[in-house]
Amino acid sequence: MSAKAQISVLFVCLGNICRSPLAEGVFRKALEARGIGDGFTVDSAGTGAWHAGSAPDPRSVTIATQHRVDISGQKARKVVRSDFERFDLILGMDISNCEELLAIAPDSARDRVHLFMAYAGLGNLEVPDPYYGGTDGFLAVYRMIRDASEALAARLDWRVSAPASGHTSSTM
Ligand code: 4NP
Repeated sequence: MSAKAQISVLFVCLGNICRSPLAEGVFRKALEARGIGDGFTVDSAGTGAWHAGSAPDPRSVTIATQHRVDISGQKARKVVRSDFERFDLILGMDISNCEELLAIAPDSARDRVHLFMAYAGLGNLEVPDPYYGGTDGFLAVYRMIRDASEALAARLDWRVSAPASGHTSSTM
């Protein structure tokens, strides 16, 4: 009998209405494309509470819909302390998100906080805040999030596909 690992991932931005809801939806799609969605818990949150309870920004909903991702049912929420216990990976969209997270993280959970693009292996890049910009900004953000989501799904795939105990086959 081989239990499979479960991985929980929380995407974090400032308002939880533009970038992190998009990351939540796009990452789910990347997992489903690999057939590994069941191995993951995925959520998103903001370091700020201004938009708590709101649906994602219509510009994020539109860019997601154009790429066959439905994020319209999501509701914004603020990061809470228990997130640092519930989630294995807490991925900030920009450096200030990561700094805010590290300012409230218990010592035991600091190593769960990473910059999303960097953790996906795509370099020390921030997903920029598109809130005050135009539609172009949302397309650029979507593309970064798509690339990082696919890279992250590839990076984590073996962890949910391989047995949690024992050794994986050298032929895998
Ligand atoms: P997000 O974008 O952090 O990607 O959700 C923002 C949303 C709202 C605000 C700033 C950024 N705001 O200032 O209300």
